[in-house]
Amino acid sequence: MIDEKRLEDLKEEALKEIRGAQDEKGLEAARVKFLGRKGELTQVLKSIAKLPPELKPVIGRLANQIKRELEAALKEAQAELKRRKEAFLPGVDLTLPGRPYLLGKLHPITQVMQEICEIFLRMGFSIATGPEIELDYYNFEALNIPPDHPARDMQATFYVDEKVVLRTHTSPIQIRTMEREKPPLRIIAPGKVYRCDSDVTHTPMFHQIEGLMVDREVSFADLKGILTLFAQETFGEKTRVRFRPSYFPFTEPSVEMDISCVICDGDGCRVCGHTGWLEILGAGMVHPNVFRSVGYDPEEWVGFAFGLGVERIAMLKFGIDDIRLFYENHLRFLEQF
Ligand code: PHE
Repeated sequence: MIDEKRLEDLKEEALKEIRGAQDEKGLEAARVKFLGRKGELTQVLKSIAKLPPELKPVIGRLANQIKRELEAALKEAQAELKRRKEAFLPGVDLTLPGRPYLLGKLHPITQVMQEICEIFLRMGFSIATGPEIELDYYNFEALNIPPDHPARDMQATFYVDEKVVLRTHTSPIQIRTMEREKPPLRIIAPGKVYRCDSDVTHTPMFHQIEGLMVDREVSFADLKGILTLFAQETFGEKTRVRFRPSYFPFTEPSVEMDISCVICDGDGCRVCGHTGWLEILGAGMVHPNVFRSVGYDPEEWVGFAFGLGVERIAMLKFGIDDIRLFYENHLRFLEQF
């Protein structure tokens, strides 16, 4: 026997299937199931004739009302499916995942330069810059390297003309800064430098960071302290340093600083040439002639300077054995940093 409760259940079930239909085929199946010639609601409507007379009007009215509701729901669902279909552009699949948004990265050399600069910024240094196409005067003469001085052979220079060179080091920034500013001062100067050189450890262009500190009382102990701290912050607390006497025309005394080998920790390996030490920078106390060339009184001011090669430090930090990898710019290399 059909009663009102069964009819209501039938309605709910039918609405659920109509509204849940994902495509026209599904919708048509729902229509046939409930409203088709042999559909469930159609059967009910047919059987009303056999009901006892007192039930006929109630069930009949309800069944017809449900039929209208289901027909309306069908129409609505059809329209919705049509809207959805139209929203699809031909040939465009809106269900595909989006394209990944590719973010660029800083070049490993840039990363290392920034890291080193930050160490010195924390120690109160500020950043200075200068031109890459430089006067012979700033690159050599003001740095106590007169014309024909044998020290010019230390660096294979690219000449633009007789008086203009591609700077061979960042030291000319020392001169330009001191010409512009009065002491005391504390600067670091990162930048590109150029030398006519090319093999597994040299490229014609590379990067240096120059340091300069000038004050009334700066000692060699300050130089050692600051550079030791720099080495330990860059390569780890356990890093040991040593200073060897060296020669630069613009510093006196001059030194080169080595760190304990980052690969073998001093035991000796291929990277450190079995010495246990790696040379990482040149430094020294500013030569009085350099102060004279910028108009600082060498009786009043003292200072230290240093210059380090960024590529060499990056190679040691990342374990890279060929400097040229930095400039071939293969993504598979660059993406590792
Ligand atoms: N300019 C030197 C070089 O390129 C490094 C250096 C800088 C040494 C400052 C001493 C002081 O090799």
